[in-house]
Amino acid sequence: MIIADSVPLLRRQRAELGTLAFVPTMGNLHAGHLALIRRARELADRVAVSIFVNPLQFGAGEDFDGYPRTPERDLEMLRGEGVELVFLPSVRDLYPRPMSEHTKVEVPAISDILCGASRPGHFVGVATIVCKLFNLVQPQIAVFGRKDYQQLMVIRRMVEDLAMPVRIEGLDTIREADGLAMSSRNGYLTPEERRIAPALYRTLGEMAQALKAGGEVGRIEADAVVRLAERGLRPDYLVVRRQQDLGIPGPQDRALVILAAAYLGRARLIDNREVRVS
Ligand code: PAF
Repeated sequence: MIIADSVPLLRRQRAELGTLAFVPTMGNLHAGHLALIRRARELADRVAVSIFVNPLQFGAGEDFDGYPRTPERDLEMLRGEGVELVFLPSVRDLYPRPMSEHTKVEVPAISDILCGASRPGHFVGVATIVCKLFNLVQPQIAVFGRKDYQQLMVIRRMVEDLAMPVRIEGLDTIREADGLAMSSRNGYLTPEERRIAPALYRTLGEMAQALKAGGEVGRIEADAVVRLAERGLRPDYLVVRRQQDLGIPGPQDRALVILAAAYLGRARLIDNREVRVS
């Protein structure tokens, strides 16, 4: 396994490798990341993974400093997966100039709603780093989790709008046995919060049933917010949107997605569930 811990080293090593499937991560790897890597392996002979906690996608007062960093353990896991190339840059490598002077990539409209409304600038940070990583790693394919539903949509739009020669593959969310979506931020939960956390996915399931039964969207959303709060989470948003563009659905829309973000202790959990109504 080649470990490139700087941009010049990455550029040298990349030239030796052919077609690459790429999995960008912020490290602290778990079974969800390993599923992305295994999917990448099915799609290309060689797999590259990046580990970089990107300061540009964290807002003031968010968990950039406390975000779990476990590079030694991550590298062991990546060796176990037979990953060919790991890119492990420093913040200075990727942002040599002050952040305010760095070129940014903005995918308008879709970046400003839901998580983008609660975390202003977050998706500019995501789009900028993913664009930069694509330019450095030059993958033919990149694999992202569908847990970050809005992020995946932002990245797909960026690739389409800027005609980037990368195929974007989305992979279904990997869950714990009790339904909680796997996330590095689950590590922030106390044992008591961990017991409460699956209520998020349970609530999405109940909303999906209510939509399929022909319930009214506004009523379903409002009831679910109350139920989630009763179950011990603090909802940020809990909404039903159109799958195609995350717009507010009209009566003709069939392909819907329920999207949720909720606070539980130190953690901000996100999850989603697609639903087709008839
Ligand atoms: O989903 C993540 O882990 C991050 O947002 C990503 C895509 C690696 C960009 O920093």
